[in-house]
Amino acid sequence: MSSQLTPFHSQPVFLLGFGGVGRALARQLIAARELHLARRHLRLEVVGIADSNNIVFEPTGLDDATLHSLIAQKDVGQKMSAPAIQQGLTPLEAITHLPPNSIVVDTTATDHIVPALLAAKVAGHAVVLANKLPVAGDLAWWDTITPSRARWETTCGSAMPVISTLTTLLDAGDEVSKIEGSLSGTLAYLAAQLEADKPFGDAVREAKRLGYTEPDPRQDLGGRDAGRKALILARMLGYRIGMDDVSIESLYPASMDNLSVDEFLREVDSLNEQMAQRAAALTTGGKKLRYAAVVQDGKCELKLLGADPNTKLGAIQASDSIVVFTSKHFSSNPLAVSGRGAGQEVTAMGVLGDIVSLAIG
Ligand SMILES: NC(=O)c1ccc[n+]([C@@H]2O[C@H](COP(=O)([O-])OP(=O)(O)OC[C@H]3O[C@@H](n4cnc5c(N)ncnc54)[C@H](OP(=O)(O)O)[C@@H]3O)[C@@H](O)[C@H]2O)c1
Repeated sequence: MSSQLTPFHSQPVFLLGFGGVGRALARQLIAARELHLARRHLRLEVVGIADSNNIVFEPTGLDDATLHSLIAQKDVGQKMSAPAIQQGLTPLEAITHLPPNSIVVDTTATDHIVPALLAAKVAGHAVVLANKLPVAGDLAWWDTITPSRARWETTCGSAMPVISTLTTLLDAGDEVSKIEGSLSGTLAYLAAQLEADKPFGDAVREAKRLGYTEPDPRQDLGGRDAGRKALILARMLGYRIGMDDVSIESLYPASMDNLSVDEFLREVDSLNEQMAQRAAALTTGGKKLRYAAVVQDGKCELKLLGADPNTKLGAIQASDSIVVFTSKHFSSNPLAVSGRGAGQEVTAMGVLGDIVSLAIG
């Protein structure tokens, strides 16, 4: 039977955010049309796309030529332009016009989008998040978004199956007593450089030059992004905590917050000696230097530590992310998920997997 004659489920999808991840997602979604039809008898219909300026909205679905055109416009830095553009419509208002049982996908990096997500949940739509902020913000947001018809796999290590693994353990009644993770590629790189006796300032400037850091490297060095990932895992364990309860070791002092980026990049050398001493103390006896999250006994902590090289956290390649679950069923040999923990294409793939799993769910 030809694919045209195969009955299929048409699934409306509304994309909030059309940056690097959002556009990679749209490209992958179009490329996977035949696959979805063949494997799942599914057609994902993009009914709307919102960026920070505009919404293109067509409840019966935007055709692929329009999607390609919108991707191409944004790729070259233009504003979205299409017949279906809805001047003045906000994401929150658009939610009220969605077809029933839509999937709303957040690939923004803002918490301004949260009211739209909450409205979507209240209206019975499903939600997929690449954006960490809605699940690392108010507990009330967490309580509304996560209990059902929601996926947030890529908030914690891109497409690595961290959230789905933990969900399976918890749903099956396993008792997870500890989660350890190296959740920031940037901080893992810096730890590896320190372990190799590279001066901290040189390592920070090199990481920035290689594009491993945010434009302001303090956003990485402060550990908050890795802290949000750890908080999401802690909340999945049932910890009723927020970012203020997460103990985060910053790799620079708060007194350097008021410097410009250039000043910081010059003055970061003042931290060389203390960081070298710290690294030496933590790596005695052949231990490996890691910037790690530890979620255990109701506490969530991120810090530099020395990991035994025979453990999964200690053995991981510096460029990879890892999350290690110790549980009743995985005690002497904890369960680890590791691999590439960042990148727009791989993140988009994880988001697409979440969408399909909700669509066929
Ligand atoms: N890249 C990775 O490796 C990775 C891994 C895991 C998770 N993530 C997460 O994925 C998300 C997207 O990352 P990205 O690299 O694609 O970011 P990005 O390129 O900065 O894209 C963000 C998009 O959100 C849009 N936006 C901002 N405010 C909005 C609003 N109020 N309403 C609607 N849209 C709004 C922006 O609009 P404009 O286009 O108009 O600016 C832009 O299209 C982030 O939350 C990030 O943390 C990324």
